[in-house]
Amino acid sequence: MPMAWKHSAALQCALAAALLYVGSYAPAAEARGHADPWWQHAVIYEIYPRSFQDSNGDGIGDLNGITQRLTYLQELGVDAIWIAPFYPSPQVDFGYDISDYRGVDPRYGTLADFDRLLAQAGQHHIRVILDMVLNHTSDKHPWFIEAASSRTVGKHDFYCWSDGKVDAAGKHLPPNNWVSLFGGSAWQWVPAVGQYYYHKFYRQQPDLNWRNPAVEQAMFGAMRFWLDRGVAGFRLDAITTLFEDEQLRDEPALGGTNAQGDPNLSNIYTDNLPQVHDVIRRMRGMVDGYPGERLLIGETYLKTTADIAPWYGGARHDELQLPMDTLFGLGAKLDAATFRRRMTEADTLLGGGQPLFVFDNHDNIRSWDRFGDGVHNAAIAKIIAALLLTSRSAALLYQGEEIGQPTTTPKRVQDVRDPIGITGWPKEKGRDGERTPMQWDDANAQAGFSSNPHTWLPVQANYRTVNVRTELADPGSILNWHRRLIALRRSNAALRDGRLVMLDPGNASVLSYARVAADGTAVVVALNMSAVTHKVTLGLKAAGVSGSRLTTLMANPAGITDTGADHDVTLPPFAAWVAQVR
Ligand code: NOJ
Repeated sequence: MPMAWKHSAALQCALAAALLYVGSYAPAAEARGHADPWWQHAVIYEIYPRSFQDSNGDGIGDLNGITQRLTYLQELGVDAIWIAPFYPSPQVDFGYDISDYRGVDPRYGTLADFDRLLAQAGQHHIRVILDMVLNHTSDKHPWFIEAASSRTVGKHDFYCWSDGKVDAAGKHLPPNNWVSLFGGSAWQWVPAVGQYYYHKFYRQQPDLNWRNPAVEQAMFGAMRFWLDRGVAGFRLDAITTLFEDEQLRDEPALGGTNAQGDPNLSNIYTDNLPQVHDVIRRMRGMVDGYPGERLLIGETYLKTTADIAPWYGGARHDELQLPMDTLFGLGAKLDAATFRRRMTEADTLLGGGQPLFVFDNHDNIRSWDRFGDGVHNAAIAKIIAALLLTSRSAALLYQGEEIGQPTTTPKRVQDVRDPIGITGWPKEKGRDGERTPMQWDDANAQAGFSSNPHTWLPVQANYRTVNVRTELADPGSILNWHRRLIALRRSNAALRDGRLVMLDPGNASVLSYARVAADGTAVVVALNMSAVTHKVTLGLKAAGVSGSRLTTLMANPAGITDTGADHDVTLPPFAAWVAQVR
């Protein structure tokens, strides 16, 4: 394993501990008693470090705060945490603009804090996955500072430059119509070099030039820095956008404008270009060179389920282990037919790849609000949890999702922190709403997140009732529902890796399916996604699922009882039912 950096004695100890820890917490598949790699049925918990736990009272969460909460995470039952970027950064995009890939931003702690977190996570049987931003750096990264100083310096070609066009009056114009996802032209003029650089996101996030082999070498080196320390893998940010069309062709207009006032374009020349797969294959080869089944997760917003298949590497399975299926949970409405179709697609169109479903993250309005109808939100949150955790998918949970934390969108533009919410106001209010502090208890007005009354984003007003401590004490809480589901998924063979059998497929309101283990034992799940009571005929025999009795494992509301396999089941509005077939 190459060591690309010089390290102190203390660091060597930390490194040795981390390697030992990788060896001890990640036994080979055979030693675990089943052949599946650890990530296949994993529950991965996303931590937005700024908002998770503040340990030093500055109003911003930090690495030591995460360490303090490991016992909570272990008891919740998560297999791994994915930590959003904590590297040195000007924080224009709250860490997704990185100025040093091999360090920790002082706001979040130190490298020693990270090593401690990693080691203690291992003791809690939790793997640590980092967020790796490969598409762009910060404009304050030393590479970009050098690149923007002259056309002749070595680092110039680390980024994507164009001379642009000049109009009749001699005015410089961008080379084409590409727009930044965060508003305005995707091209920024730099007088010192007399060129434009390309940025898919903020202008402070210049895109790296992945056609330059030195970029790949440098970024793989950064990944190795953390792999050598013992991280379990990476969530690859904006991974579909590494390459752009070399001819810089205009993208076709789709008509209309987006929330930032830019024309809607079909991103055929700036997203999902085929060249990215060669990079991913080499990256997978690099990652596979490490022991302990290191993992690559992709932030893969794609148009169809079939589009996700190539990201596994097709039949060769030599690219990402878990590209995200963002269509399933982030792109959907609460609709039984849509979920049935998407689940079936994920089961059949991914070439045997393991789906990764996700309902919440730090970029989207929380599922509480996206799916909630304002009356039955708690029951709907339990349906979503049941769907996520009883499906065949690996599962991503976002901090706060497990307690039913709502979105808190700013009401006034002067309160907005996310730059896209400022430039896009009022059509685009930004992502602050889904990033408010985690609600731990009601011991102080900061919900236990911080001792500082000036938290970087306000704490949601409902924290007195919606918080971890209160919910842990309530057997009927959303949090305990998640904990029980995760425990069940872990202990029940059918739920862990059973195949999927759709039941009652014509039902427009109730989504029902069975998970059937290799030995034929099965679990049935029925989710009433409507506000009216439904009587459901599961038709187990016809679907080839054997057994004569259904014994309730989990039910919300609690009254849904055991029944005979071929009898009707009555499901109240927004009911969720999980039953063992015997
Ligand atoms: C996706 C991240 O999740 C988001 O927060 C960020 O703004 C963009 N990528 C750019 O890095």
